[in-house]
Amino acid sequence: MAINPPIDATQTPEWAALQQHFDQLQDEGVDLKTWFANDASRVDKLSFDAGDLHFDLSKNLIKPETLALFADLAKAVKLDERTKAMYTGVHINNTEDRAVLHTALRRPAEDEGKFIVDGQDTVKDVREVLSRIYAFADRVRSGEWTGVSGKKITTVVNIGIGGSDLGPVMVYEALKAYADAGISARYISNIDPNDIAEKTKGLDPETTLFIIVSKTFTTLETLTNAREARTWLLKGLKAAGAVDGSDEKNSEAVSKHFVAVSTNLEKVAEFGIDPTNAFGFWNWVGGRYSVDAAVGTSLAVVFGPERFEEFLHGFHAIDEYFATTPFDKNVVVLLGMLNVWYRNFFKAASHAVLPYDQYLHRFPAYLQQLTMESNGKSVRWDGTPVTTETGEIFWGEPGTNGQHAFYQLIHQGTQLIPADFIAFANTPNPTKDGGQDVHELFLGNYLAQTKALAFGKTADEVRAEGTAEEIVPARVFAGNRPTTSVFGDALTPFSLGELIALYEHITFVEGTVWGLDSYDQWGVELGKQLAKQITPAISQDDDALAQQDASTQGLIKFYREHRKF
Ligand code: F6P
Repeated sequence: MAINPPIDATQTPEWAALQQHFDQLQDEGVDLKTWFANDASRVDKLSFDAGDLHFDLSKNLIKPETLALFADLAKAVKLDERTKAMYTGVHINNTEDRAVLHTALRRPAEDEGKFIVDGQDTVKDVREVLSRIYAFADRVRSGEWTGVSGKKITTVVNIGIGGSDLGPVMVYEALKAYADAGISARYISNIDPNDIAEKTKGLDPETTLFIIVSKTFTTLETLTNAREARTWLLKGLKAAGAVDGSDEKNSEAVSKHFVAVSTNLEKVAEFGIDPTNAFGFWNWVGGRYSVDAAVGTSLAVVFGPERFEEFLHGFHAIDEYFATTPFDKNVVVLLGMLNVWYRNFFKAASHAVLPYDQYLHRFPAYLQQLTMESNGKSVRWDGTPVTTETGEIFWGEPGTNGQHAFYQLIHQGTQLIPADFIAFANTPNPTKDGGQDVHELFLGNYLAQTKALAFGKTADEVRAEGTAEEIVPARVFAGNRPTTSVFGDALTPFSLGELIALYEHITFVEGTVWGLDSYDQWGVELGKQLAKQITPAISQDDDALAQQDASTQGLIKFYREHRKF
């Protein structure tokens, strides 16, 4: 089905109204201290709950009345229609002619038969694959599935890259406290041989299971690492006397120690993995939206099917909330619009995501692919140029580590960097330092940072501390640095699913305002093509070398002069 051309948000009266509001705020002075002082109900008006997450937007550079303008703009770009189109399987990824149905991955079994897309009962198919994954996970967890020498699997190694790695590794790290079957996971992604060398160190091939994850099953990095892993496995098993080196025994070993996740089951079979040990998904699941599909198989093994289901429920709770809550009260929509506000009106080029939870230490890296591969674009879904800035740079590190690294620039630098602060009331590792609860000490930092960023410290306040006059300017904090506080009860499979879905939809809202196909990623292709052309030139092919540009030639010459192997 053809999709409508994008509406140019910047040409709508709703954009003009937002611009006027922005100008007015600039004229009257953007000042959070004053806004808090003048409106006792500011926090109430700008706080929201979605699923079991709580959001405080009050320390953003908006007034309560800004929300209605955000909602109006969302309506003007027909966000509701596009959401419906996404949820019902219209091919909104039009440059690849694909539906975008990650929301179907987390629908309950009751929805079977309701989402038939391109002739496929999506929910039924999803639940069937999940049942197979869960049966497999149970077998590995219980020890019924063993390695070739009959030993229980104690490590699963996920080999994949991009969406086939970043989601699973982030979730594994985030939920580590829930691992309950004596199975740990490692994640190999980079084609740099250092990655596989380090990640296989100390592993026992007899108790290691590889999960090769690739949507296309053609990705250079993943297939190279998968072949390397097979070599490592067979060599190790032979050394341990677990295989005799015969083809028959080797193929039995591969079938016991390798499973695959892909949309391309033919290629899986070509690699030598038994298709009965392969878990499929579909081309309507984008790589960066796939951690809740079979791509999360390592997670089902480590944490168990029940936890994986809770994870899916978390996504679904936010999917439902996003699709059914009026725009002016819909914190997912409002956060997406807030990002547009900062990107296009305040011209903020980056956005920090700062989890106050060590378990979320890979969350910013995960979000970088989700947001930047989705919205880092300069043409709209009909091929016309974008009409305003798109795709801010997402980045971050867990607090409090970031505080001792880059927060200086957020507090006192010359750029405006909106930041999301994420924390949880409970920790699985409560502890006291003397009489002090350490988690509360941690939360004290979470709260202090957003307060310092919002309200700053004036020169008079600095002087009142007895600071020498010449040092006063260096110690002033301007304040009015915007933050959103996200607070949850605890980091659980459910709340993690909620958080991921939240950012998926925020990304979608921004993409809709900018008129982007947030689901293609053509920008990664040229580098892949050139790598294929250049690689032969590196070591031997002088004709190929001669065809390169002068800079590439110079770098290859340096390499040839310096290589020592
Ligand atoms: O980097 C481009 C990309 O296509 C990502 O979108 C994707 O997540 C990654 O490569 C891995 O692709 P595959 O799962 O097909 O190996």
